[in-house]
Amino acid sequence: MNDSDSLFLKALKKEILDVPPIWYMRQAGRYMPEYRNVRKNFKNFLDMCKNPEVCCELALQPINAFQLDAAILFSDILTIPDALGLGVNFVEGKGPVFHNPIKTSSDINNLNTFDPNDLNYVYEAVSNIKNSLPEDIPLIGFCGSPWTLAAYSIEGRSSKDFKKTTEFIKSNKDETHFFLSRLTDACFLYLRKQVLAGADVIQIFDSWANLLESDDLKDFSMQYIESLILALKQDPVTSKTPIILFSRDPKCDTETLINTSADCISLYWNMQNFNINAANGRVAIQGNLNPKVLLESRDFIKQETYKILDSFNKFPGYIFNLGHGITPDINPDSVKYLTDLVREY
Ligand code: CP3
Repeated sequence: MNDSDSLFLKALKKEILDVPPIWYMRQAGRYMPEYRNVRKNFKNFLDMCKNPEVCCELALQPINAFQLDAAILFSDILTIPDALGLGVNFVEGKGPVFHNPIKTSSDINNLNTFDPNDLNYVYEAVSNIKNSLPEDIPLIGFCGSPWTLAAYSIEGRSSKDFKKTTEFIKSNKDETHFFLSRLTDACFLYLRKQVLAGADVIQIFDSWANLLESDDLKDFSMQYIESLILALKQDPVTSKTPIILFSRDPKCDTETLINTSADCISLYWNMQNFNINAANGRVAIQGNLNPKVLLESRDFIKQETYKILDSFNKFPGYIFNLGHGITPDINPDSVKYLTDLVREY
């Protein structure tokens, strides 16, 4: 793909732009009537992810509705644990539920070896989406961070505090590290195949970074994210693919994020005191409107959006996004309003 055609790729190269590129985390999802219309045909969400034609249709819905500057693969971060044999199911009202979560250290040793070919349905979705997208709209591939995947695999479901997980990692330190390094290898093989299939950019979601205090964050999460990024940077297939890191409310300073080998840092919505001057010229920045703002009046949406646009005005490499995913209660008209607002600023 030619960088000069895409605002998004230019921003990832840290160019100063008059209008920032725009895309939204969870831009394809239940807030869209078009999505719900397709979703109702599948009982299990993961079955829908295993259908590459449907994934293609879903990934294009927000592009068609809002003319966004990037598409994201329609899939889920839990495809890897599913391929490892942990039996991932999505239960209405509960989110993901694992049939065979990691309960003991021997469960880690008995895991299937990750075979990237088990996720061929994902790469097929990538190439379908890529072939259907307009030439100048890049496609983002993604994975969960090793830590976030481990947390779901041990907890076996979504939870507020992931108590089981935090206890498990304390009493099974070595096995947890072994598991994290295996997940890092799996993420590498998985992302490499997504890029081979046509993904132009990669985003790593560390959605449960917030569970770890600073030393543990480094030890159990950042360390593995950094090895994953370095492995991608060293492989000829992925060496030129820009990498975005989203870390949810991480207990670390600005420098720690900037000093990773990621090309772009996606800011969580509460990171208002992130030192953008320190980032200047070193990484691109993506974010970070609080998705809850989209539930408020147009005046309030405008006020909060302008605050962010004012602070990133002339920043070398700025991508407009939310500070976390769009929730099902958001009105698509507000997403349209927001997108126009940013373009007309
Ligand atoms: O536009 C897109 O971003 C679509 C692709 C996408 C999905 N999930 C589709 C999805 C992406 C990039 C994800 C990533 C993902 N999945 C994350 C990281 C992002 C974040 O929010 O921090 C996480 C933590 C997951 C795990 C996951 N998937 C959970 C906890 C849930 C259930 C919670 C919920 O929102 O219901 C999902 C389901 C899911 N993944 C849906 C979608 C559209 C909704 C499922 C449905 O329609 O029933």
